[in-house]
Amino acid sequence: LPHHSVAVAKELTSVARALVSPRGKGIYATDESPDVIEGMLSAASLNGQENLNEEEKKDRRRKWREAAYGALTNDHISGVILYPETLLDFKLGETLTKKGIILGVRAHGELAPFPASPFEFIVQGLDDLLPKLQAARAAGARFSKWRAPIACTSEALGLPSTVSLEVQAETLAVFASISQQAGLVPIVEPDVEFSADADLYRSVEVHQKAIRMIYTRCLEHGVLLEASLIKPSFPQPGLKHPSRKTITSEEIALATASVIANSVPASVPGVVFLSGGLEPSVAMKYLSGVNALVNKAGPSSPFSRLPPLSFSYGRALQGEAMKHWVRGDTQAMKNAFDNATKGCSDAAKGEY
Ligand code: 13P
Repeated sequence: LPHHSVAVAKELTSVARALVSPRGKGIYATDESPDVIEGMLSAASLNGQENLNEEEKKDRRRKWREAAYGALTNDHISGVILYPETLLDFKLGETLTKKGIILGVRAHGELAPFPASPFEFIVQGLDDLLPKLQAARAAGARFSKWRAPIACTSEALGLPSTVSLEVQAETLAVFASISQQAGLVPIVEPDVEFSADADLYRSVEVHQKAIRMIYTRCLEHGVLLEASLIKPSFPQPGLKHPSRKTITSEEIALATASVIANSVPASVPGVVFLSGGLEPSVAMKYLSGVNALVNKAGPSSPFSRLPPLSFSYGRALQGEAMKHWVRGDTQAMKNAFDNATKGCSDAAKGEY
Protein backbone atom coordinates (compact mmCIF):
# COMPACT_ATOMS: atom_id res chain seq x y z
CA LEU A 1 0.00 0.00 0.00
CA PRO A 2 1.28 3.48 -0.82
CA HIS A 3 1.36 4.62 2.82
CA HIS A 4 3.73 1.83 3.84
CA SER A 5 7.22 2.00 2.39
CA VAL A 6 8.74 -1.38 1.55
CA ALA A 7 11.28 -0.96 4.36
CA VAL A 8 8.59 -0.25 6.97
CA ALA A 9 6.41 -3.11 5.73
CA LYS A 10 9.38 -5.49 5.94
CA GLU A 11 10.32 -4.40 9.45
CA LEU A 12 6.76 -4.69 10.76
CA THR A 13 6.25 -8.07 9.12
CA SER A 14 9.43 -9.47 10.61
CA VAL A 15 8.48 -8.24 14.11
CA ALA A 16 5.04 -9.86 13.79
CA ARG A 17 6.63 -13.16 12.77
CA ALA A 18 9.27 -12.99 15.50
CA LEU A 19 6.55 -12.73 18.14
CA VAL A 20 5.25 -16.21 17.24
CA SER A 21 8.45 -18.00 16.28
CA PRO A 22 10.08 -20.34 16.74
CA ARG A 23 7.03 -22.39 17.59
CA GLY A 24 6.54 -22.49 21.35
CA LYS A 25 7.32 -18.84 21.99
CA GLY A 26 4.62 -16.41 23.03
CA ILE A 27 3.81 -13.18 24.80
CA TYR A 28 3.52 -12.22 28.48
CA ALA A 29 0.81 -9.56 28.94
CA THR A 30 1.62 -7.16 31.82
CA ASP A 31 -0.46 -4.21 30.71
CA GLU A 32 -2.95 -4.12 33.58
CA SER A 33 -3.85 -0.55 34.56
CA PRO A 34 -2.51 0.65 37.96
CA ASP A 35 -5.88 -0.01 39.63
CA VAL A 36 -6.11 -3.52 38.29
CA ILE A 37 -2.55 -4.53 39.19
CA GLU A 38 -3.02 -2.98 42.65
CA GLY A 39 -6.14 -5.10 43.11
CA MET A 40 -4.21 -8.23 42.10
CA LEU A 41 -1.28 -7.48 44.41
CA SER A 42 -3.59 -6.78 47.36
CA ALA A 43 -5.60 -9.92 46.73
CA ALA A 44 -2.40 -12.00 46.57
CA SER A 45 -0.89 -10.56 49.74
CA LEU A 46 -1.57 -12.18 53.11
CA ASN A 47 -2.85 -9.00 54.66
CA GLY A 48 -5.13 -7.78 51.89
CA GLN A 49 -6.14 -4.92 54.17
CA GLU A 50 -2.90 -2.96 53.92
CA ASN A 51 -3.19 0.81 53.87
CA LEU A 52 -0.77 2.01 51.24
CA ASN A 53 -0.78 5.60 49.99
CA GLU A 54 -0.52 6.39 46.28
CA GLU A 55 3.28 6.69 46.30
CA GLU A 56 3.69 3.40 48.16
CA LYS A 57 1.34 1.67 45.74
CA LYS A 58 3.26 3.01 42.78
CA ASP A 59 6.48 1.84 44.36
CA ARG A 60 5.02 -1.62 44.98
CA ARG A 61 3.84 -2.08 41.40
CA ARG A 62 7.17 -0.85 40.03
CA LYS A 63 8.96 -3.41 42.23
CA TRP A 64 6.59 -6.18 41.12
CA ARG A 65 7.19 -5.39 37.45
CA GLU A 66 10.95 -5.23 38.05
CA ALA A 67 10.92 -8.59 39.81
CA ALA A 68 8.74 -10.21 37.14
CA TYR A 69 10.90 -8.96 34.26
CA GLY A 70 14.02 -9.92 36.20
CA ALA A 71 12.74 -13.49 36.48
CA LEU A 72 11.97 -13.89 32.76
CA THR A 73 14.15 -15.37 30.07
CA ASN A 74 13.55 -15.40 26.35
CA ASP A 75 13.51 -19.22 26.27
CA HIS A 76 9.73 -19.24 25.91
CA ILE A 77 8.82 -15.54 25.86
CA SER A 78 9.14 -13.56 22.63
CA GLY A 79 7.51 -10.33 23.79
CA VAL A 80 6.04 -8.52 26.79
CA ILE A 81 3.15 -6.02 26.70
CA LEU A 82 3.80 -3.09 29.02
CA TYR A 83 1.49 -0.49 30.47
CA PRO A 84 2.69 2.97 29.33
CA GLU A 85 3.69 3.89 32.90
CA THR A 86 6.05 0.89 33.03
CA LEU A 87 7.66 1.79 29.73
CA LEU A 88 7.83 5.59 29.94
CA ASP A 89 7.86 6.39 33.66
CA PHE A 90 9.50 3.35 35.29
CA LYS A 91 11.62 2.84 32.15
CA LEU A 92 11.78 -0.93 32.59
CA GLY A 93 11.91 -1.80 28.89
CA GLU A 94 15.67 -2.18 28.76
CA THR A 95 15.63 -5.07 31.27
CA LEU A 96 13.63 -6.97 28.66
CA THR A 97 15.32 -5.88 25.44
CA LYS A 98 18.69 -6.87 26.92
CA LYS A 99 17.28 -10.41 27.16
CA GLY A 100 16.17 -10.38 23.55
CA ILE A 101 12.49 -9.85 24.43
CA ILE A 102 10.43 -7.55 22.17
CA LEU A 103 8.58 -4.67 23.84
CA GLY A 104 4.90 -4.02 23.29
CA VAL A 105 2.67 -1.30 24.67
CA ARG A 106 -0.97 -1.23 25.66
CA ALA A 107 -2.73 1.20 23.36
CA HIS A 108 -6.35 1.15 24.48
CA GLY A 109 -7.74 3.57 27.03
CA GLU A 110 -10.61 3.27 29.45
CA LEU A 111 -14.08 1.84 28.77
CA ALA A 112 -17.32 3.82 28.53
CA PRO A 113 -20.68 2.02 28.49
CA PHE A 114 -22.91 2.46 25.46
CA PRO A 115 -25.76 4.76 26.54
CA ALA A 116 -28.27 2.48 24.83
CA SER A 117 -26.70 -0.79 25.95
CA PRO A 118 -25.09 -0.50 29.38
CA PHE A 119 -23.49 -3.98 29.31
CA GLU A 120 -21.47 -3.13 26.22
CA PHE A 121 -18.52 -0.76 26.10
CA ILE A 122 -16.90 1.75 23.81
CA VAL A 123 -13.11 1.68 24.15
CA GLN A 124 -11.59 5.15 24.40
CA GLY A 125 -8.15 6.29 23.31
CA LEU A 126 -8.14 6.88 19.54
CA ASP A 127 -7.93 10.70 19.72
CA ASP A 128 -4.36 11.06 20.92
CA LEU A 129 -3.19 7.62 19.84
CA LEU A 130 -0.57 8.54 17.22
CA PRO A 131 1.69 10.69 19.48
CA LYS A 132 1.32 8.16 22.31
CA LEU A 133 2.40 5.28 20.10
CA GLN A 134 5.23 7.34 18.59
CA ALA A 135 6.48 8.01 22.13
CA ALA A 136 6.28 4.28 22.87
CA ARG A 137 8.20 3.46 19.70
CA ALA A 138 10.88 6.02 20.67
CA ALA A 139 11.12 4.24 24.06
CA GLY A 140 11.78 0.91 22.33
CA ALA A 141 8.32 -0.59 21.72
CA ARG A 142 7.84 -2.55 18.50
CA PHE A 143 4.25 -3.73 18.90
CA SER A 144 1.02 -2.58 20.52
CA LYS A 145 -2.27 -4.07 21.66
CA TRP A 146 -5.87 -2.89 21.83
CA ARG A 147 -8.49 -4.86 23.78
CA ALA A 148 -12.13 -4.70 22.77
CA PRO A 149 -14.52 -6.40 25.20
CA ILE A 150 -17.44 -8.17 23.53
CA ALA A 151 -20.50 -9.24 25.49
CA CYS A 152 -21.84 -12.73 24.70
CA THR A 153 -25.16 -14.10 25.89
CA SER A 154 -27.64 -16.61 24.48
CA GLU A 155 -29.48 -15.39 21.41
CA ALA A 156 -32.59 -14.93 23.56
CA LEU A 157 -30.82 -12.35 25.72
CA GLY A 158 -29.45 -10.75 22.57
CA LEU A 159 -25.86 -9.65 23.22
CA PRO A 160 -23.71 -8.55 21.52
CA SER A 161 -25.70 -5.95 19.66
CA THR A 162 -24.81 -5.47 16.01
CA VAL A 163 -24.02 -1.81 16.61
CA SER A 164 -21.50 -2.66 19.35
CA LEU A 165 -19.74 -5.15 17.04
CA GLU A 166 -19.59 -2.49 14.34
CA VAL A 167 -18.06 0.03 16.74
CA GLN A 168 -15.47 -2.45 18.06
CA ALA A 169 -14.50 -3.53 14.54
CA GLU A 170 -14.13 0.05 13.35
CA THR A 171 -12.20 1.09 16.47
CA LEU A 172 -9.81 -1.87 16.23
CA ALA A 173 -9.20 -1.15 12.54
CA VAL A 174 -8.45 2.54 13.17
CA PHE A 175 -6.15 1.50 16.03
CA ALA A 176 -4.34 -1.02 13.82
CA SER A 177 -3.76 1.47 11.03
CA ILE A 178 -2.46 4.16 13.42
CA SER A 179 -0.24 1.60 15.13
CA GLN A 180 1.41 0.69 11.82
CA GLN A 181 1.74 4.39 11.02
CA ALA A 182 3.70 4.76 14.29
CA GLY A 183 5.92 1.79 13.38
CA LEU A 184 4.34 -0.72 15.74
CA VAL A 185 2.83 -4.12 14.91
CA PRO A 186 -0.82 -4.03 16.04
CA ILE A 187 -2.42 -6.86 17.98
CA VAL A 188 -6.20 -6.67 17.75
CA GLU A 189 -7.84 -8.25 20.79
CA PRO A 190 -11.51 -9.17 20.53
CA ASP A 191 -12.18 -10.47 24.04
CA VAL A 192 -15.49 -12.32 23.94
CA GLU A 193 -16.62 -12.71 27.53
CA PHE A 194 -17.86 -15.96 29.03
CA SER A 195 -19.66 -14.83 32.17
CA ALA A 196 -23.18 -15.33 30.80
CA ASP A 197 -25.48 -18.05 29.42
CA ALA A 198 -24.18 -18.62 25.88
CA ASP A 199 -23.50 -22.21 24.83
CA LEU A 200 -20.41 -23.20 22.84
CA TYR A 201 -22.16 -22.87 19.50
CA ARG A 202 -23.30 -19.34 20.33
CA SER A 203 -19.78 -18.38 21.49
CA VAL A 204 -18.37 -19.70 18.20
CA GLU A 205 -20.94 -17.71 16.24
CA VAL A 206 -20.12 -14.48 18.12
CA HIS A 207 -16.35 -15.01 17.76
CA GLN A 208 -16.67 -15.59 14.02
CA LYS A 209 -18.90 -12.63 13.44
CA ALA A 210 -16.74 -10.26 15.52
CA ILE A 211 -13.46 -11.39 13.94
CA ARG A 212 -14.75 -11.27 10.37
CA MET A 213 -16.09 -7.76 10.92
CA ILE A 214 -12.72 -6.66 12.31
CA TYR A 215 -10.86 -7.85 9.21
CA THR A 216 -13.37 -6.31 6.84
CA ARG A 217 -12.77 -2.93 8.48
CA CYS A 218 -8.98 -3.47 8.69
CA LEU A 219 -8.85 -3.98 4.92
CA GLU A 220 -10.91 -0.82 4.38
CA HIS A 221 -8.38 1.10 6.49
CA GLY A 222 -5.39 -0.25 4.58
CA VAL A 223 -3.99 -2.28 7.48
CA LEU A 224 -1.15 -4.54 6.38
CA LEU A 225 -2.47 -7.83 7.76
CA GLU A 226 0.91 -9.56 7.24
CA ALA A 227 2.24 -7.15 9.86
CA SER A 228 -0.46 -7.68 12.49
CA LEU A 229 -1.51 -10.36 14.97
CA ILE A 230 -4.81 -11.26 16.62
CA LYS A 231 -5.39 -12.00 20.30
CA PRO A 232 -8.74 -13.74 20.61
CA SER A 233 -10.43 -15.52 23.46
CA PHE A 234 -11.14 -19.25 23.29
CA PRO A 235 -14.75 -19.92 22.30
CA GLN A 236 -16.37 -21.59 25.30
CA PRO A 237 -19.75 -21.96 27.03
CA GLY A 238 -20.58 -19.18 29.49
CA LEU A 239 -20.33 -19.72 33.25
CA LYS A 240 -24.13 -19.71 33.46
CA HIS A 241 -24.65 -22.39 30.82
CA PRO A 242 -25.07 -25.97 32.16
CA SER A 243 -22.64 -27.39 29.55
CA ARG A 244 -19.83 -25.37 31.16
CA LYS A 245 -19.33 -28.21 33.66
CA THR A 246 -19.05 -31.00 31.10
CA ILE A 247 -17.25 -29.35 28.19
CA THR A 248 -13.97 -31.07 27.19
CA SER A 249 -10.78 -29.50 25.90
CA GLU A 250 -11.25 -31.54 22.69
CA GLU A 251 -14.56 -29.74 22.06
CA ILE A 252 -12.97 -26.36 22.79
CA ALA A 253 -10.07 -27.25 20.49
CA LEU A 254 -12.34 -28.06 17.56
CA ALA A 255 -14.41 -24.92 18.12
CA THR A 256 -11.27 -22.79 18.35
CA ALA A 257 -9.59 -24.19 15.23
CA SER A 258 -12.80 -23.76 13.31
CA VAL A 259 -13.27 -20.12 14.42
CA ILE A 260 -9.71 -19.29 13.32
CA ALA A 261 -10.00 -21.15 10.01
CA ASN A 262 -13.31 -19.45 9.23
CA SER A 263 -12.51 -15.90 10.22
CA VAL A 264 -8.79 -15.06 10.30
CA PRO A 265 -7.34 -14.26 6.84
CA ALA A 266 -4.43 -16.43 5.72
CA SER A 267 -2.12 -13.39 5.60
CA VAL A 268 -2.23 -12.92 9.40
CA PRO A 269 1.05 -14.46 10.63
CA GLY A 270 -0.08 -15.56 14.08
CA VAL A 271 -2.76 -15.95 16.71
CA VAL A 272 -1.95 -15.32 20.39
CA PHE A 273 -4.78 -16.28 22.74
CA LEU A 274 -5.68 -14.48 25.96
CA SER A 275 -6.25 -16.48 29.16
CA GLY A 276 -9.21 -14.42 30.34
CA GLY A 277 -9.13 -15.48 33.98
CA LEU A 278 -9.17 -19.23 33.25
CA GLU A 279 -7.25 -21.38 35.71
CA PRO A 280 -3.65 -21.54 34.40
CA SER A 281 -3.85 -25.30 33.79
CA VAL A 282 -7.12 -24.86 31.88
CA ALA A 283 -5.70 -22.04 29.74
CA MET A 284 -2.75 -24.29 28.92
CA LYS A 285 -4.96 -27.32 28.18
CA TYR A 286 -7.11 -25.31 25.78
CA LEU A 287 -4.07 -23.99 23.92
CA SER A 288 -2.45 -27.40 23.85
CA GLY A 289 -5.68 -29.02 22.65
CA VAL A 290 -6.01 -26.79 19.61
CA ASN A 291 -2.33 -27.24 18.72
CA ALA A 292 -2.60 -31.02 19.11
CA LEU A 293 -5.53 -30.93 16.71
CA VAL A 294 -3.50 -28.91 14.20
CA ASN A 295 -0.54 -31.30 14.63
CA LYS A 296 -2.81 -34.22 13.71
CA ALA A 297 -4.44 -32.50 10.73
CA GLY A 298 -3.53 -34.08 7.43
CA PRO A 299 -2.37 -31.96 4.46
CA SER A 300 -5.90 -31.74 3.03
CA SER A 301 -7.36 -30.40 6.31
CA PRO A 302 -7.87 -26.61 6.49
CA PHE A 303 -6.39 -26.80 10.00
CA SER A 304 -3.00 -27.71 8.54
CA ARG A 305 -2.86 -24.23 7.00
CA LEU A 306 -3.46 -22.26 10.23
CA PRO A 307 -0.72 -19.85 11.38
CA PRO A 308 1.14 -20.49 14.68
CA LEU A 309 -1.34 -20.57 17.59
CA SER A 310 0.42 -19.26 20.67
CA PHE A 311 -0.30 -17.34 23.88
CA SER A 312 -0.44 -13.79 25.15
CA TYR A 313 -1.29 -14.64 28.74
CA GLY A 314 -1.38 -12.38 31.75
CA ARG A 315 -3.10 -13.99 34.70
CA ALA A 316 -2.37 -17.59 33.66
CA LEU A 317 1.35 -16.80 33.47
CA GLN A 318 1.88 -14.74 36.60
CA GLY A 319 -0.77 -15.80 39.11
CA GLU A 320 1.35 -18.33 41.03
CA ALA A 321 4.49 -16.21 40.79
CA MET A 322 2.71 -13.22 42.27
CA LYS A 323 1.59 -15.21 45.32
CA HIS A 324 5.22 -16.04 46.10
CA TRP A 325 6.46 -12.54 45.41
CA VAL A 326 4.09 -10.86 47.88
CA ARG A 327 5.45 -13.26 50.52
CA GLY A 328 9.00 -12.22 49.66
CA ASP A 329 10.02 -15.65 48.30
CA THR A 330 11.89 -14.71 45.14
CA GLN A 331 13.23 -18.20 44.43
CA ALA A 332 9.73 -19.67 44.50
CA MET A 333 8.56 -16.77 42.31
CA LYS A 334 11.26 -17.53 39.76
CA ASN A 335 10.37 -21.24 39.78
CA ALA A 336 6.69 -20.40 39.30
CA PHE A 337 7.51 -18.21 36.28
CA ASP A 338 9.74 -20.93 34.83
CA ASN A 339 6.98 -23.53 35.24
CA ALA A 340 4.29 -21.30 33.79
CA THR A 341 6.30 -20.15 30.77
CA LYS A 342 7.39 -23.75 30.09
CA GLY A 343 3.78 -24.92 30.36
CA CYS A 344 2.60 -22.23 27.93
CA SER A 345 5.41 -23.05 25.54
CA ASP A 346 4.59 -26.77 25.62
CA ALA A 347 0.93 -25.88 25.05
CA ALA A 348 1.83 -23.77 22.03
CA LYS A 349 3.40 -26.93 20.56
CA GLY A 350 0.46 -29.15 21.51
CA GLU A 351 2.54 -30.94 24.12
CA TYR A 352 1.16 -29.78 27.46
P1 13P B 1 -5.21 -12.48 30.52
O1 13P B 1 -4.41 -13.58 29.88
O2 13P B 1 -5.04 -12.38 32.01
O3 13P B 1 -6.63 -12.47 30.06
O4 13P B 1 -4.54 -11.13 30.04
C1 13P B 1 -4.36 -10.91 28.74
C2 13P B 1 -4.77 -9.54 28.41
O5 13P B 1 -3.96 -8.76 28.00
C3 13P B 1 -6.19 -9.19 28.57
O6 13P B 1 -6.42 -7.93 28.02
